[in-house]
Amino acid sequence: MFVGIDLGTSALKAVLVDDSQRVVGSHTYPLRVSSPHPGWNEQAPEDWWTGLLATMDALAHAHPREMAAVKGIGLSGQQHGAVLLGGDGNVLRPCILWNDVRAAPQCLTFEHRFPQSREICGNMAMPGFTAPKLIWVAEHEPDIFRATRHVLLPKAWLRYRMTGEMIDDMSDASGSLWLDVGARQWSDEALAATELPRSAMPELVEGTARAGTLHAGLAGRWGMASRPVLAGSAGDNAAGAVGLGAVTAGSSFLSLGTSGVLWVTTDRFRPHPQGGIHAFCHAVPGMWHQMGVTLSAASALAWWARTTGMAEQALLAELPQHIARPSPVIFLPYLSGERTPHNDGNIRGVFAGLSHGTSRADMTQAVLEGVAFSFRDVVDALADAGSTLRDADVIGGGSNSRIWVSILASVTGLSLHRLAHGEQGGAFGAARLARIAVTGEAVDAVCLPQPREETLVPDRELAASYAASLARYRALYPAIRGAMD
Ligand code: XUL
Repeated sequence: MFVGIDLGTSALKAVLVDDSQRVVGSHTYPLRVSSPHPGWNEQAPEDWWTGLLATMDALAHAHPREMAAVKGIGLSGQQHGAVLLGGDGNVLRPCILWNDVRAAPQCLTFEHRFPQSREICGNMAMPGFTAPKLIWVAEHEPDIFRATRHVLLPKAWLRYRMTGEMIDDMSDASGSLWLDVGARQWSDEALAATELPRSAMPELVEGTARAGTLHAGLAGRWGMASRPVLAGSAGDNAAGAVGLGAVTAGSSFLSLGTSGVLWVTTDRFRPHPQGGIHAFCHAVPGMWHQMGVTLSAASALAWWARTTGMAEQALLAELPQHIARPSPVIFLPYLSGERTPHNDGNIRGVFAGLSHGTSRADMTQAVLEGVAFSFRDVVDALADAGSTLRDADVIGGGSNSRIWVSILASVTGLSLHRLAHGEQGGAFGAARLARIAVTGEAVDAVCLPQPREETLVPDRELAASYAASLARYRALYPAIRGAMD
């Protein structure tokens, strides 16, 4: 029996998976993001801890027999966030999250101080990544920077609380900009560019390795017969890939979560920083991946639902069953800036082409299409990076909407596979990593593909009409950019 925990942005989720890889229990605890200024996004690590205790307590209550048999716990987590700890392990300030764009100017400082960073770290410096956040803290909160002894990514902090050990995996560390991604080890030059010593970093292990043992008090609280081992684990996208079986070169998936991700597994380090493509280590040894990220995906629809005071389902129900033509309105989903392809922390969202005749349904459709156009930019950037995709599995909360997935297929030109269990995401992958760490089984024996429910293929006529809307969408970014600075 294994537990997988995914520390997401909107929720913390724990799943209990049996030895036949069946999910026998799951529990979710909602999380809130605080935005004290536009473009800032923070969470208090203590809230994650409350969520972890709540979900694990609930699993222990509902499944005492299964929890007694847990042998391993895997962790998956939102990437890039900076948890700053003082000498006694106390948290010094709220975690600055992956979708916080305050550190845009500090990206220039980082690349100026470390000119080889793009080749070594495999990525452009982007404000969501961890290193520029530390330069921001040094400039704006110097007392906190001086007191910082350790920097942990979100789920590494959870591991620290669960085991007392500071350990993280290479897939998640890839998003810090402190990793030599090809060599799978910390880069002293990258750390020096943020005035941090290597001792500020956790020990690095592969995602499939053992990484700590649960505190006896917690194992007792959850009725576990022995103290489970924690796996090296993974950033949430790498854990999602493990859950889908995307562990061989060329396997791909599209995640329609809070952020939007298009992922391709690669068998070597293939950096292509221009165009905002990320090149990171995979959670399994000897593998890497490329991915493009659009910062607001399912969160764009969630924003539109909040703004209209409607439930997302009710908004979607106002759309025609079958989309026959593009919305007359174009939406740029840059609600918290954009990564791929623009790497622009200052840009913000836009509805363009509104008229007296515009309906709420036109605007809802525009939101879905805007996110799809943004994915199309990622498809093209990945092709420039040498990864031409034809199809992908779709996961994440947005994949529940058939209409959204069909729009995505026609806009991106990809055949998209909806999965029977597409919403399990990182938590299930984390449980698989725990199993590999405990049993030593081969990666491909455990990381089997998920059953597909249906495949949505591009609609030729609609795809042709979308070409004109895509051109309008692409013309808007350069036209509005200057107005946002
Ligand atoms: C990936 C990224 C997001 C977060 C969301 O680079 O920033 O996908 O990991 O949880």
